Amino acid sequence: MLTFISSIHILHIIFLVLQIDLHGDISGFLSAHPQSPLISLHHLDYVDPIFPFMNHSQSLNHLMKVAKNGQFQSRLLQQSICYHKLKNWTFSISWGYSIQIYESIFPPSFIQIPLQTFIPWSKLYKPFFVFNTRLPNNNPCDAPHVLFFESIKNMSSGSYTLVTNYTRRYSRKLPPCLSNGNHSANHISEIHVLSPMKKLDWVSTSFVSQRMM
Ligand SMILES: *[C@@H]1O[C@H](CO)[C@@H](O)[C@H](O)[C@H]1NC(C)=O
Ligand SMILES: *[C@@H]1O[C@H](CO)[C@@H](O)[C@H](O)[C@H]1NC(C)=O
Ligand SMILES: *[C@@H]1O[C@H](CO)[C@@H](O)[C@H](O)[C@H]1NC(C)=O
Ligand SMILES: *[C@@H]1O[C@H](CO)[C@@H](O)[C@H](O)[C@H]1NC(C)=O
Ligand SMILES: *[C@@H]1O[C@H](CO)[C@@H](O)[C@H](O)[C@H]1NC(C)=O
Repeated sequence: MLTFISSIHILHIIFLVLQIDLHGDISGFLSAHPQSPLISLHHLDYVDPIFPFMNHSQSLNHLMKVAKNGQFQSRLLQQSICYHKLKNWTFSISWGYSIQIYESIFPPSFIQIPLQTFIPWSKLYKPFFVFNTRLPNNNPCDAPHVLFFESIKNMSSGSYTLVTNYTRRYSRKLPPCLSNGNHSANHISEIHVLSPMKKLDWVSTSFVSQRMM
């Protein structure tokens, strides 16, 4: 068990457009947006289940395990970014949904840009999206490992009492990024994010503990 402490910036992006027309795999969008877009997902029939290992209704129920507690609703999908400098890793946490691990150090300004896993609703109009996107690629230094939300627990003692549990469902199927020191994250199978019960504003400190497989 390796535990590290890192400063986490809770990044708030004000998303002005209420109608989001995306198609296909919207995980890249959900992984980079702190603003709860659930009310905006009107074309659910045309998007893939948000948890790729579940069907649509299971996926929504799973996400709602976190959101059904009104206290945590506003945190759902909030993006936090932290670094593990000894390994040259960047973690991007979309609270209650997913964690991406990059085998590189990327600034928040880059991580905040959604990975374009989705396709535009209409190809007739340019630009396709009202926000910038990053195109996914298979460079091991760019492509993230992805872990998905599994469960939430209330530990009811100590100051960081809310534990969200994220597990790996798929291996990345790429070699490690060599240029940043050959620190593979393939063996990371589960990550626990500890957060305070109380609502956070703007900037806070959080703990991330990761269990090695
Ligand atoms: C989704 O999966 C659940 C559990 O496997 C199943 O009970 C349900 O019928 C499925 N729903 C659809 C729409 O396929
Ligand atoms: C967490 O557990 C404590 C003690 O059991 C309880 O007082 C508190 O209401 C719980 N909080 C939530 C959000 O479930
Ligand atoms: C996280 O989820 C996995 C898979 O369900 C489970 O084995 C593990 O005990 C969970 N960990 C915590 C801290 O809840
Ligand atoms: C992190 O990556 C840089 C190159 O991007 C490298 O010079 C440095 O040695 C790496 N650090 C570790 C701890 O591997
Ligand atoms: C990268 O690390 C792995 C595991 O430690 C090792 O087997 C491999 O030879 C290393 N690759 C390079 C190019 O150093």
